[in-house]
Amino acid sequence: MRDSSRRWTAGRFARCGTVAVGLFLAGWAGEQSLAQQAAPADTEESDEGAVTNPYLGDFEAIAAGKRVYRSHCIICHLKSGGRGPNLFRTDLTDEKFLDIVVNGVEGALMPAFGTKLTLDEIWQVNAYVKSRDRY
Ligand code: HEC
Repeated sequence: MRDSSRRWTAGRFARCGTVAVGLFLAGWAGEQSLAQQAAPADTEESDEGAVTNPYLGDFEAIAAGKRVYRSHCIICHLKSGGRGPNLFRTDLTDEKFLDIVVNGVEGALMPAFGTKLTLDEIWQVNAYVKSRDRY
Protein backbone atom coordinates (compact mmCIF):
# COMPACT_ATOMS: atom_id res chain seq x y z
CA MET A 1 0.00 0.00 0.00
CA ARG A 2 2.70 2.47 0.97
CA ASP A 3 4.80 1.32 -1.96
CA SER A 4 2.11 2.05 -4.54
CA SER A 5 1.42 5.54 -3.13
CA ARG A 6 5.11 6.32 -3.31
CA ARG A 7 5.16 5.20 -6.93
CA TRP A 8 2.16 7.46 -7.64
CA THR A 9 3.98 10.38 -6.08
CA ALA A 10 7.07 9.67 -8.13
CA GLY A 11 4.98 9.38 -11.29
CA ARG A 12 3.25 12.66 -10.58
CA PHE A 13 6.57 14.31 -9.93
CA ALA A 14 7.89 12.99 -13.24
CA ARG A 15 4.85 14.38 -15.08
CA CYS A 16 5.37 17.80 -13.50
CA GLY A 17 8.97 17.60 -14.63
CA THR A 18 7.86 16.87 -18.19
CA VAL A 19 5.58 19.89 -18.20
CA ALA A 20 8.38 22.07 -16.90
CA VAL A 21 10.75 20.84 -19.62
CA GLY A 22 8.00 21.35 -22.18
CA LEU A 23 7.50 24.97 -21.10
CA PHE A 24 11.22 25.51 -21.13
CA LEU A 25 11.49 24.17 -24.70
CA ALA A 26 8.50 26.24 -25.84
CA GLY A 27 10.15 29.35 -24.42
CA TRP A 28 13.41 28.48 -26.10
CA ALA A 29 11.70 27.79 -29.46
CA GLY A 30 9.94 31.16 -29.16
CA GLU A 31 13.25 32.93 -28.72
CA GLN A 32 14.73 31.00 -31.63
CA SER A 33 11.95 32.01 -34.02
CA LEU A 34 12.29 35.64 -32.96
CA ALA A 35 15.97 35.42 -33.75
CA GLN A 36 15.17 33.92 -37.15
CA GLN A 37 12.64 36.64 -37.90
CA ALA A 38 15.28 39.24 -37.17
CA ALA A 39 17.80 37.67 -39.57
CA PRO A 40 16.22 38.57 -42.96
CA ALA A 41 15.92 42.22 -41.94
CA ASP A 42 19.65 42.29 -41.22
CA THR A 43 20.39 40.68 -44.60
CA GLU A 44 18.25 43.22 -46.44
CA GLU A 45 20.15 46.04 -44.84
CA SER A 46 23.54 44.70 -45.83
CA ASP A 47 22.39 43.90 -49.39
CA GLU A 48 20.77 47.29 -49.85
CA GLY A 49 20.48 48.20 -53.51
CA ALA A 50 20.99 44.67 -54.90
CA VAL A 51 18.44 43.70 -57.56
CA THR A 52 16.89 40.33 -56.79
CA ASN A 53 14.48 38.07 -58.64
CA PRO A 54 10.93 38.55 -57.27
CA TYR A 55 9.78 35.24 -58.84
CA LEU A 56 12.06 32.74 -57.07
CA GLY A 57 10.07 29.68 -55.98
CA ASP A 58 6.91 30.90 -57.77
CA PHE A 59 5.43 27.81 -59.42
CA GLU A 60 3.75 29.61 -62.34
CA ALA A 61 6.79 31.76 -63.06
CA ILE A 62 8.98 28.65 -63.10
CA ALA A 63 6.65 26.98 -65.64
CA ALA A 64 6.68 30.13 -67.78
CA GLY A 65 10.48 30.26 -67.47
CA LYS A 66 10.75 26.73 -68.78
CA ARG A 67 8.84 27.77 -71.91
CA VAL A 68 11.17 30.74 -72.44
CA TYR A 69 14.22 28.53 -71.88
CA ARG A 70 12.91 26.00 -74.40
CA SER A 71 12.25 28.62 -77.08
CA HIS A 72 15.26 30.92 -76.60
CA CYS A 73 18.09 29.35 -74.59
CA ILE A 74 18.19 25.57 -74.98
CA ILE A 75 19.54 25.80 -78.51
CA CYS A 76 22.91 26.88 -77.03
CA HIS A 77 22.76 26.00 -73.35
CA LEU A 78 21.18 22.57 -73.95
CA LYS A 79 20.06 20.39 -71.02
CA SER A 80 23.12 20.92 -68.87
CA GLY A 81 25.48 23.09 -70.88
CA GLY A 82 26.53 23.18 -74.55
CA ARG A 83 27.96 26.08 -76.51
CA GLY A 84 27.04 28.15 -73.47
CA PRO A 85 27.64 27.06 -69.85
CA ASN A 86 25.18 25.04 -67.77
CA LEU A 87 22.71 27.67 -66.55
CA PHE A 88 21.19 25.24 -64.04
CA ARG A 89 24.42 25.27 -62.06
CA THR A 90 25.14 28.97 -62.41
CA ASP A 91 26.27 30.80 -59.30
CA LEU A 92 25.69 34.26 -60.77
CA THR A 93 23.76 36.71 -58.63
CA ASP A 94 20.26 37.56 -59.87
CA GLU A 95 21.48 40.98 -60.89
CA LYS A 96 24.44 39.66 -62.91
CA PHE A 97 22.25 37.04 -64.60
CA LEU A 98 19.79 39.76 -65.64
CA ASP A 99 22.61 41.98 -66.87
CA ILE A 100 24.12 39.22 -69.06
CA VAL A 101 20.79 38.19 -70.56
CA VAL A 102 19.73 41.77 -71.30
CA ASN A 103 23.08 42.86 -72.75
CA GLY A 104 24.62 39.62 -73.99
CA VAL A 105 28.33 38.87 -73.78
CA GLU A 106 30.39 40.96 -76.15
CA GLY A 107 32.73 38.93 -78.30
CA ALA A 108 30.94 35.67 -77.42
CA LEU A 109 27.94 33.84 -78.89
CA MET A 110 25.67 34.93 -76.02
CA PRO A 111 23.10 37.27 -77.63
CA ALA A 112 21.51 40.33 -76.00
CA PHE A 113 17.86 39.62 -75.22
CA GLY A 114 17.04 43.11 -73.96
CA THR A 115 14.78 43.84 -76.95
CA LYS A 116 13.45 40.28 -77.41
CA LEU A 117 12.36 39.36 -73.89
CA THR A 118 10.61 41.35 -71.18
CA LEU A 119 12.17 41.79 -67.75
CA ASP A 120 9.52 39.43 -66.37
CA GLU A 121 10.43 36.73 -68.88
CA ILE A 122 14.12 36.95 -67.95
CA TRP A 123 13.27 36.67 -64.24
CA GLN A 124 11.09 33.68 -65.08
CA VAL A 125 13.99 31.89 -66.81
CA ASN A 126 16.17 32.71 -63.81
CA ALA A 127 13.55 31.28 -61.43
CA TYR A 128 13.30 28.18 -63.63
CA VAL A 129 17.05 27.43 -63.86
CA LYS A 130 17.43 28.00 -60.13
CA SER A 131 14.61 25.58 -59.38
CA ARG A 132 16.48 22.50 -60.62
CA ASP A 133 19.96 21.38 -61.67
CA ARG A 134 19.26 20.33 -65.29
CA TYR A 135 16.62 20.72 -68.02
C1 HEC B 1 23.46 31.57 -79.68
C2 HEC B 1 23.77 30.82 -78.48
C3 HEC B 1 23.15 31.25 -77.15
C4 HEC B 1 21.83 31.47 -76.86
C5 HEC B 1 20.63 31.36 -77.80
C6 HEC B 1 21.78 31.79 -75.46
N1 HEC B 1 23.04 31.80 -74.93
FE1 HEC B 1 23.55 32.30 -73.03
N2 HEC B 1 25.50 32.03 -73.46
C7 HEC B 1 26.00 31.59 -74.68
C8 HEC B 1 27.44 31.49 -74.58
C9 HEC B 1 28.39 31.02 -75.69
C10 HEC B 1 27.80 31.91 -73.29
C11 HEC B 1 29.20 32.03 -72.66
C12 HEC B 1 29.65 33.45 -72.88
C13 HEC B 1 31.07 33.67 -72.37
O1 HEC B 1 31.99 33.21 -73.00
O2 HEC B 1 31.18 34.31 -71.29
C14 HEC B 1 26.56 32.23 -72.61
C15 HEC B 1 26.48 32.68 -71.31
C16 HEC B 1 25.31 32.92 -70.64
C17 HEC B 1 25.23 33.32 -69.26
C18 HEC B 1 26.41 33.52 -68.30
C19 HEC B 1 26.60 32.22 -67.58
C20 HEC B 1 27.75 32.23 -66.58
O3 HEC B 1 27.67 31.43 -65.64
O4 HEC B 1 28.69 33.01 -66.77
C21 HEC B 1 23.92 33.43 -68.95
C22 HEC B 1 23.31 33.82 -67.60
C23 HEC B 1 23.17 33.10 -70.14
N3 HEC B 1 24.05 32.80 -71.14
C24 HEC B 1 21.80 33.08 -70.21
C25 HEC B 1 21.08 32.79 -71.35
C26 HEC B 1 19.65 32.78 -71.40
C27 HEC B 1 18.73 33.01 -70.20
C28 HEC B 1 19.31 32.50 -72.67
C29 HEC B 1 17.92 32.41 -73.24
C30 HEC B 1 17.04 33.54 -72.96
C31 HEC B 1 20.55 32.33 -73.43
N4 HEC B 1 21.60 32.51 -72.58
C32 HEC B 1 20.61 32.05 -74.78
C33 HEC B 1 25.27 31.30 -75.80
C34 HEC B 1 23.91 31.46 -75.94
